[in-house]
Amino acid sequence: MIFPEKRHLQLPGPTAVPPRVLRAMERPMISHRSPEFAQLVADITADLQWVFCTTHPVYIINGSGTAGLEAAAANTISSGERVLVVVGGSFGRRFAAIYQAFGANVETIEVPPGKAVDPQQVVEALTRHPDTRVVAVTHHETSTGVLHPIEEIAKVVHRHSDALYVVDAISSLGAVPLQTDAWGIDVVVTGSQKALMTPPGLSMIAMNERAQKRMEGSTAPRFYFDLRTYDRSLRNNEQPYTPSISLFFALNEALHMLHEQGLEAIYQRHVQLRDAFRATVRAVGLGLLAEDAIASPTVTAVTPGNRDLDIQQVRKQLANLGVESMDGQDELKGKILRLGHMGYTDALDLLTVAAALEMALIHLGVKGIAGVGVAAAEEVLLHV
Ligand SMILES: Cc1ncc(COP(=O)(O)O)c(C=O)c1O
Repeated sequence: MIFPEKRHLQLPGPTAVPPRVLRAMERPMISHRSPEFAQLVADITADLQWVFCTTHPVYIINGSGTAGLEAAAANTISSGERVLVVVGGSFGRRFAAIYQAFGANVETIEVPPGKAVDPQQVVEALTRHPDTRVVAVTHHETSTGVLHPIEEIAKVVHRHSDALYVVDAISSLGAVPLQTDAWGIDVVVTGSQKALMTPPGLSMIAMNERAQKRMEGSTAPRFYFDLRTYDRSLRNNEQPYTPSISLFFALNEALHMLHEQGLEAIYQRHVQLRDAFRATVRAVGLGLLAEDAIASPTVTAVTPGNRDLDIQQVRKQLANLGVESMDGQDELKGKILRLGHMGYTDALDLLTVAAALEMALIHLGVKGIAGVGVAAAEEVLLHV
């Protein structure tokens, strides 16, 4: 690499942080008990409600996405209660493990890697277990690049049970439509380091009245992640403990950027980037783990397809060219390459990735593909 600092960070997370957002963190430290910080919390909360499409409180906690999932679990159940978790990969599995750690009686719906859950499977599980207290689903299963049908599942959860509907939207919120209130999602969790273009370290949890009522009565052990304390503080635009103030500055700036673009334009850009990258992958003769209809606009999982090559070698070649992607996880380790195209990624970044993918394959001995991946991506990017 000629300029090592010139990274093309195309990971499933953390994602590239825009210079504006990085600069926002240079601000001198302020007191988290000052009117200035209260104003910052008020501004960020209003912007987060806009991104979450909710009028309900959005709690911000110090910690990565998993901290948010733990807070969601600890505040929605009591020990022994039944929880249904859709497990379509590593992150669904983690969500199930977290509920288990808090003493839930966890049932899972196991979905093969690269497939989406059928809402009918949720109906069947709820019919078998009418005492289910929580249904937990990962919106975008980042380990496979699959988007689960969150809106359709909301309908069946509310039609067939009184369970709370809890959604992990860590790698989708701010890039993929998610109507928290309109779809009837009781709890939504996200993290700072994906589509919100902010460094890792903050997690955000939206909770409606139904979920807040459950939170009040839950007997699960919790202290730092007791969202009742965050709720009381938020009423005064405060945080209960010392917040990651620099990350609040960053998040505030990133949310301004989202506002400037508008949610619809952001959603469209992500779809366009996904379609362009998928066209590139097909054009260079590699394979795609997820079918088009369920493919996430934020991350694409690439397989060797019919090519007789080690996909990790492709990843290595990409890294040599300065494009950072990620390996698969768990059962998909070594078998796929995951490339993120969310947040601070635009059409020219995607064309860089397309060119790098061609060059990576050419370095590995593949012939006759120079220019074809870029042309395929351009075709998509030009026709919108
Ligand atoms: C869907 C999903 N859930 C949970 C997590 C875990 O988040 P973190 O690594 O920020 O704790 C991630 C992170 O990649 C994710 O993509």
